[in-house]
Formats: sequence, structure tokens, C-alpha cells
Amino acid sequence: MSGRPRVFVARVLPDEGLDPVRAACDADIWPDELPPPRDELLRRIAGCDGVLTLLTDRVDDAFLDAAGPQLRVVSNYAVGFDNVDVAACAARGVAVGNTPGVLTETTADLAWALLMAAARRLPEADRYVRDGRWKTWGPLLLLGPDVNGATIGIVGFGRIGQAVARRAQGFGMEILYHDLEPLPDAVTEPLGATYLPLEELLARSDFVSLHVNLSDVTRHLINATTLAWMKPTAVLVNTSRGPVVDQRALADALRKGVIWAAALDVTDPEPIPMDDPLVGLDNCLIVPHIASASRATRGKMAAMAAANLLAGVRGEPLPTPVTPPG
Ligand code: DGY
Repeated sequence: MSGRPRVFVARVLPDEGLDPVRAACDADIWPDELPPPRDELLRRIAGCDGVLTLLTDRVDDAFLDAAGPQLRVVSNYAVGFDNVDVAACAARGVAVGNTPGVLTETTADLAWALLMAAARRLPEADRYVRDGRWKTWGPLLLLGPDVNGATIGIVGFGRIGQAVARRAQGFGMEILYHDLEPLPDAVTEPLGATYLPLEELLARSDFVSLHVNLSDVTRHLINATTLAWMKPTAVLVNTSRGPVVDQRALADALRKGVIWAAALDVTDPEPIPMDDPLVGLDNCLIVPHIASASRATRGKMAAMAAANLLAGVRGEPLPTPVTPPG
């Protein structure tokens, strides 16, 4: 490569990411709030040495064809990388990076906020006040389950799942977890977390929090069958990926009282269409994929994504590479 590397950055990021990229590269930065339309994305990446993508940008063979053979790196501004065909990138020698670690605690905070808000019906309570319906203190008004002392089932016990478990310890909860296989005692014992098969975990948990990657194994992991294993009083929290939950089955379960409530940071698709049945349900809280949205964390993610991009265009090992599958 001669001269400054050419890169495309698919959205305006915090300065911690844009400053180093602008300083070192000939950078085309997509200025809009909405992602670049597919045609525009493919047009803009042509001839680039590196692309900084978001989870809204699909990186597949068509993307790689459009970029051209000089492309060295795709740096994804997210810990999740289900939008990237990592095998296709590896086949063409394109490195892929993500942003693990820096968003763990912030994402766990949001999972906890959703859990608390759903349990204690905060959105409903807020609407109740603003609608002018608050007339007096009511013994039966807006009752929900206790969080303290309840049982939480954490599905996917990686970094974020474990961070949620640490919060649950503070609330004196019984902590159950499920993953592909039990984790070493050195990880689970300090958290007081007990491994259970999924069916048993769902049957015993008052709160179920999802922290799995999206894969063929986890797509629609929560479906009509698995929802039926849950308690009718249970609350489901999803901060992983929307397609982990079969949304039709969830809406049905919430309507029929198969489970009591749900709180979602992620939906399928995103944004959720306003005519999706979940939107009309009072016992379903939905926020717009904001789990990592603290100022500090988004800044750290931006710095990390920039570091991956710059290492990639220089032909150096990425600080946080995504490993191609098996
Ligand atoms: C991720 O990083 O995968 C989140 O979903 C966005 O912060």
C-alpha cells in the first residue's frame, strides 16, 4: 500500500475512535444516523483497505467482492459479530476484529435495569402517573415479584452472564446457569452459580436472563416449547440478540400468561415494527438495543475498534481479533 490507507467508517463514532482513524487514514465517515443503505455501503467500500462496520452492516461475500482484494480488515464496533461472515473473511485473508471486554459491565447493568424495571413494572407505573391515574396509595397497585432472594437463571455464562451473576449475588439470589457445558469450579464457585440443563433451569427460575451468542444452536432457543417450561410468574430478559427468542411465541406466552413479563433490549428485526404484537403488550418492556450505551463504554469500544482497524490496515495482528470458526 502506498500513501495513507483508505478506510470507510460506517457511522459517526465517539472521538476516541474517530480521532486516531482520521489522523492515520484517508477516512470516509458515513455521516447519517441511519446506516448506509446496502448499495451505498457497497459503493463506498470499493477500494478500501479497511472498513469499520456496525452490527447493522452485513459483511458477506457480496461485501467482500465490492470492497476488492486489497481489503485487509473489517473492524466491527460491537462484541457480537453475527453480522460478519468470519469464514468468508478468513478465506480472503481479511482480518476481523470486535470489541470484547469493555462493554461487559455496562451490558450487565442494563440487563439488571431491565430485570428490575420489569419486575417492579416501572414503565407501567410511569405511564400510570403521567396519564393522571394516580389517585391514592393502593394496597394492590402495580404489584410485582421480589427480586431479592429470588432465583435467577442465566443462559450463556460468559463474561456478561457472569457479570449479571455478580449483581444477583448482591440481591441474595439463588444463581443457576446454563451453557454448552458446565464451567470450571474456579469460575462458578465464587459466584455461587449452579449448572443446570436448560429445561430444569427454566422450570426453576423466577428471572431468566439471556447472554448467548447468536448461532444456529441459539436461534429461537426460547420458543413455544421452552417458554412452556418456565414459571407462569417468570420474567424473561434478553440483552443478547433478538433472534434468540421466537417473538411470536413470546407474544403468545405473554398474552396467555405462560410467563409473566419480558424485557427486551434486542428484537428481531431491529427496529421492531410498530405493529409487532409485543409492542402492544403492557407486560413487555422494550428498549432500542442500548445495553452498551454508556458514554465511557461507547468511547472505549470506539478506541478498540479504531485500534483493530489501524492494526489491520498496517498488516499487524489485531489487538482483539475474532477467530474464524473451527
Ligand atoms: C454488541 O457489542 O454486540 C452489542 O450488541 C452492541 O453494543
